[in-house]
Amino acid sequence: MKKVQIGLQEVHVGEVDELCRALADEVEALLENRLKEGKPAVLGLATGSTPLPLYAELIRRHREEGLSFANVISFNLDEYEGLGRDHERSYWCEMWKNLFDHLDVRPENVSVPPSISDDPDRAAAEYEAAIQAAGGIDWQLLGIGGEGHIGFNEKGSEPDSRTRRVTLARKTIVDAAPGFGGEKNVPNHAITMGVATILEAKRVVLMARGASKKEIVARALSGEVGSDVPASFLQNHENVGWFLDDDAAGS
Ligand code: F6R
Repeated sequence: MKKVQIGLQEVHVGEVDELCRALADEVEALLENRLKEGKPAVLGLATGSTPLPLYAELIRRHREEGLSFANVISFNLDEYEGLGRDHERSYWCEMWKNLFDHLDVRPENVSVPPSISDDPDRAAAEYEAAIQAAGGIDWQLLGIGGEGHIGFNEKGSEPDSRTRRVTLARKTIVDAAPGFGGEKNVPNHAITMGVATILEAKRVVLMARGASKKEIVARALSGEVGSDVPASFLQNHENVGWFLDDDAAGS
């Protein structure tokens, strides 16, 4: 695995399994440190296809090496509006299927923004408050959308944005359509942590895989910082790591 520095950002480039081992090492070190301090470790987690091999590695360490997640509090980045927890495409369902069901995490310590709520604005504000009440996020995992979204902070999202209800970009809906059996089945709205919520995490790691992410990763890493590419706001964070496979890095 290669490591280069671009501005404040460390960029790791390598095979997916190397990237996942390095990311899992970070999680493991955080869990050990927090346990010693007698405090919970607060993780911010992403859904989507990118983190699946990392989640597989965390599950492996739990099963084979006894890594315990009993001391973890987790907050997911975002959730589709209107699906409900039982819907197989809801992020709640995906997170349990792909990660939490296989760990010793306490169910009451897992949070995903609500998919169904009679007052999404209030629900979003409560989610933001719960993150603050947990002492903020220690380690935030991100993927990147085709147009540079982080969470569901689409183009136009401001750096001071907080957890809120958002309208999904057309590109996000098109990208999600295969999993939903067509665009018409993809929700138009979601609740997402805001850019400011994400940037307050003590450590932020963004993982990207595949050639389809190459162009947007380059813009986010080295292009102008601004709402046109929300992931570019990471350039202002003092403890951010990019974990890219060769295709996403364009190397
Ligand atoms: C998911 C999320 C999104 C995804 C991004 C990339 O919780 O917040 O920002 O990380 O859309 O998705 P994949 O990994 O499916 O390419």
